[in-house]
This record gives sequence, C-alpha cells and structure tokens, in this order.
Amino acid sequence: MKLKNDLLLRTARGEAVERPPVWLMRQAGRILPQYRAVREKLSGFKELVETPELAAEVTIQPVDELDVDAAIIFSDILVIPEAMGLAYEMVEKRGPLFPETIRSEGDIQKLVVGEAAAARLGYVYGALELTRNNLAGRVPLIGFSGAPWTLLAYMVEGSGSKTFSRAKRLLYREPKLAHLLLEKITETIIAYLKEKARHGADLIQLFDSWAGILSPASYREFSAPYLQQICSAITEVPVTVFAKGAWFALEDISRMDCQVIGLDWNVSPEEGRRRAGEEKVLQGNLDPCCLYAGPEQVSRAAREMLEAFGRRHIANLGHGVYPDTPLDGVRAFVQAVKNYRYK
Ligand code: CP3
Repeated sequence: MKLKNDLLLRTARGEAVERPPVWLMRQAGRILPQYRAVREKLSGFKELVETPELAAEVTIQPVDELDVDAAIIFSDILVIPEAMGLAYEMVEKRGPLFPETIRSEGDIQKLVVGEAAAARLGYVYGALELTRNNLAGRVPLIGFSGAPWTLLAYMVEGSGSKTFSRAKRLLYREPKLAHLLLEKITETIIAYLKEKARHGADLIQLFDSWAGILSPASYREFSAPYLQQICSAITEVPVTVFAKGAWFALEDISRMDCQVIGLDWNVSPEEGRRRAGEEKVLQGNLDPCCLYAGPEQVSRAAREMLEAFGRRHIANLGHGVYPDTPLDGVRAFVQAVKNYRYK
C-alpha cells in the first residue's frame, strides 16, 4: 500500500525533505486517556501485548490523537527473552520481573534460539499486519527490538535495576558465557526482525536502553559488535540504533550499517553531529521533562532543537515520554515540529 505520509522514510533514506518528521518514543501508552481506558478493562499489560486487535488499536491511538508522522507497534522488548524460554511478568507500578533467570551455561544451552524462537511471536506479526491494514497508508509503521546487551541485562538480572551489577558481573567474571548468550540473543533478534519487516514494519529501531551503564571498553566488546551484526543482517528496511547514555560510543555506532542514530538529551545536537559524522540521520533528543513546561516554552525549545540539528534529523524526545506528561505539552512539541520549515 502506498503511504500518504512517507516523510519518516524519506528522511531515514537521506532524501531532502521540507521539515523533519516527528514521533515520540512511548507515544502508545499511559499519556493517552484512550490507552488507559483500554488497559483498565484488561487483566494486565501482557493481554494487551498478546492480543493483536488491542495492540493494533493502541498503536494507532497516537496517530489519531497527536497527529505524529509514524506509528510504533505496541509491544515490548521482553517478548524476545520470553520466546527464548524465560517468561516475564509485568508487575503493576514496579515493572518487569523474570521468575527464572540465566545463571549457568546449562541455562543458556536450554534456550530456544533463532527462527524457532521467532516463530513463537505470531501475535506480534498479527498485530503488525492488522495495524498496517487499519492505518491504510496514513503513516509508516516502526518495528523494534531490544539490543542484545539490554536483553541480556534483563535475562541475567531478572528485573530492572539501577546498576545491573548482576548482569555486569557476568561480563567481568565469565565473558565467554556472556558472549555465548549474546550470540544466541542476536541470532534470535535477526530472525525476529526479518519477520517483522515481512509483516509490515517500515523501519526498525534497536533500543539499547542500558548502553550507558557500560564502560566504553565493555560497550565495544559486549554491545557494539552484536548491534553491527543485526544492522548488517537487516537489509529490508532502514534501521535506527538508539543506545541510551552511550554518547561515548557515537563514533563506533556511526560505523555501523544503520541509517539513523538516536540520541538522548545528555549530548547536544552539535556534539552528536560532530561525533556521529555527516552521513547518518540523527533522531532525538529533547529532554522528556521539558514537556512539563507550558506549551509556549515547549514550542520554543522544540524550535531551538530543530535549528541546532539542521537537516538529516528526525524529531523525537531523548527517551520515552513519561506517563504523567501533560497532553498539551506533547501536542505543543508535535505541532512545533509540524509547523517548522527548513530554510
Ligand atoms: O509507544 C511505544 O514506544 C511502543 C511501545 C513500547 C513499550 N515498550 C510499551 C510499554 C516500546 C517501544 C517498549 C520498549 C521497551 N520496554 C524498552 C526500551 C525502551 C526504553 O524505554 O528504553 C524497555 C527497557 C522495556 C521494558 C519495560 N517495559 C519496562 C522497564 C516497563 C515498565 C516501565 C513503566 O513505565 O511502567 C515496561 C512496560 C511498558 N512497556 C509500558 C508500555 C506502554 C507500561 C505499560 C503499562 O503499565 O500499561
């Protein structure tokens, strides 16, 4: 189906465009009353993720409500560990929990890997197809995966953590096991993302949410090579690498076979461009907390950000929008970008 608004894809391909496209990480979620209404009627988060009709519905809500230039499929990065054999729970107000974690080589050898694991995620592919049909070409649909290191962090730690010291301990004490696990996760992600592209994802974003807790040397050994493997395997659609907190690795990331690099707010647009070089499209990076300010201040901050990035930019926040963000701040951000024109 031909897209009516393909600004995101033209930008990701490096074409000259009239203004940057805009979408928000976590746009499909608790900021929207319509999302909360759907969510309230369900047994929990997983029911939403695993029911294609409902996942498609909440994926499209921000397109209707906020007029963003892209939809991102409603799902979670934790579906991959689950498909590999570690079921997750989403505990209300606390976040993810894995009752079983990876503790030994035996645990790693038991995992389901690659196409066999990807084949267990039919509900994601179903949601993508339904969303694509229901969007009827209004905007592109973004698919995503967690990065290997970020998924390892959850699979070893078992939950969120400030330090992820249990996961990092594996890197320092048993680097061979860490690499064995990272290889298996990477193989699974590649099979999964190829299915996602086949079922309607127009662009893929890799979330390395815990990149910033690694040292530059650890990042270079345990994260970057696996991200690069995924980038070079996914040739079907453009790929965005978003490594939160890893401004120190921007030079490494700029050498990957990705089209777009996501930035968080800890790096200025100017420094991001300097470190990433001229070739890649940059995405980001307004501090999500800026949206707590009044609409006028948000519009001004958005325009300043757009000026600082210049061309080859996809407007977004520096991380997911916080659930208690006022909707008028979100709308002011989106509209400021949509009213902007490159000189
Ligand atoms: O709109 C979108 O961006 C699409 C949907 C999306 C979700 N999770 C829905 C969700 C995406 C892209 C993710 C990715 C994800 N999940 C990441 C990477 C992005 C990032 O934020 O760095 C991570 C680390 C996770 C793991 C995860 N899932 C956590 C830590 C939590 C709890 C956090 C919280 O805010 O409560 C989740 C749950 C989750 N995933 C929610 C949503 C909308 C909250 C759901 C709810 O309770 O209804």
